[in-house]
Amino acid sequence: MQKLVSFSKRRGFIFPSSEIYGGFGSCYDFGPLGVEMRKNIKDAWWNSMTRGKDNIVGIDASILMNPKIWEASGHLSAGFADELVECKKCHHRFRGDFVKDKCPDCGGSFTKSKKFNLMMKTFVGPVEDDASVAYLRAETCQGIYVNFKNVMQSMRKKVPFGIAQIGKAFRNEINPKDFIFRTREFEQMEMQWFCSPKDADKFFEYWLKKRLNWYYDLGINKKNLRTYEVPKKELAHYAKRAVDIEYKFPFGWKEIEGVHNRGDWDLSNHAKHSGEDLKYEGYYPYVIETSHGVDRSMFAFLAEAYQEIKGGRGKDANKEIEIVLNIDKRLAPVKVAVLPLVKNNPKIVKKARQVYDLLKTNMVCLYDESGSIGRRYRRLDEIGCVSAVTVDFDSLGDDSVTVRDRDTMKQKRVKIDKLISNV
Ligand code: GAP
Repeated sequence: MQKLVSFSKRRGFIFPSSEIYGGFGSCYDFGPLGVEMRKNIKDAWWNSMTRGKDNIVGIDASILMNPKIWEASGHLSAGFADELVECKKCHHRFRGDFVKDKCPDCGGSFTKSKKFNLMMKTFVGPVEDDASVAYLRAETCQGIYVNFKNVMQSMRKKVPFGIAQIGKAFRNEINPKDFIFRTREFEQMEMQWFCSPKDADKFFEYWLKKRLNWYYDLGINKKNLRTYEVPKKELAHYAKRAVDIEYKFPFGWKEIEGVHNRGDWDLSNHAKHSGEDLKYEGYYPYVIETSHGVDRSMFAFLAEAYQEIKGGRGKDANKEIEIVLNIDKRLAPVKVAVLPLVKNNPKIVKKARQVYDLLKTNMVCLYDESGSIGRRYRRLDEIGCVSAVTVDFDSLGDDSVTVRDRDTMKQKRVKIDKLISNV
């Protein structure tokens, strides 16, 4: 875990937020490679959800919404609250289900637990009174339910169909922890599948399988993923059934995504509270939800891909530990790097710059001229860069370059005008 945290910072994936001010309670910033990787994860999800044969369209609802939404959804009541305990001695606060009977910080005993609501509160407008209270959304899907009719009518959809959304969500977690696993600000990718109640079980199985296959396809080993049928007494207030998809994180098996049968909880409650008719052909459609965190996904893909190879790879290995980020090519933050063999030959540098200009408009591309070629390869392997393109003396005569593959380390000569389809 510690290695992943320091690697993520050193190589520009994840920085602690507000670091020069001492940080800010479990908030993180995503660096240049982090944003590229997250974009790739989101694109992979979006493409798999909205571009396939399933009948799914996307929306992007606002984070601030009418507070009545959170009354209707049940998030302002006890259902969306954690047990909070406070140490009588050091007054540190903990989530009741995360601790035993003694304070882990000082050994003191706890107060009786009380309910703590997780909604993040703010005020909208210049007056901070009860009438201006609003909430940062705690799950993105509520923006989907309240747009159910808009989407259905504007897109002339018929049940069954789905609505997908990617966006930030906020929860005032009592004990955010484990790097980007549990934070107060995070990003969700959620899809709500509206179907008739009689088809709900069938679609639940369909979506669970499809979601598991998404991870396998992107390189998660089957032995690191499992499902957990949430027992009835642990179900969230809205759920009729829930299966967690769990990943074997460095700190143990934990939920990465939930597949939920939300029944007609959301549409019927929004109809009741808003007075709108949200029925479809006389009934409330059931909702099968797939709910997934970008941050947990990113963590899992990094953990899965991070490899330390003792003594290095290949014959030019430097006998030290080499790091290789063996990440799926679709998720790799940098696809290709252009390396002039030497940096003091203006002709080679000029040619390398031309190759860089050609590639960078097509894919995320780095230009790197410092250090030996071997060292540059090591640096690129570390960030999972898929191909390295070396411009050498021969390139000046034959308009070809050497392309090296990250995983096999095999090299091939490729004509510059064929490069885009060969990296
Ligand atoms: N709409 C249903 C819903 O939000 P959830 O199980 O509370 O269900 C779904 O959350 C997913 O959102 C989780 O599986 C996780 O990936 C992500 N998530 C939830 N809380 C999080 C937090 N505090 N930090 C990071 N990700 C979180």
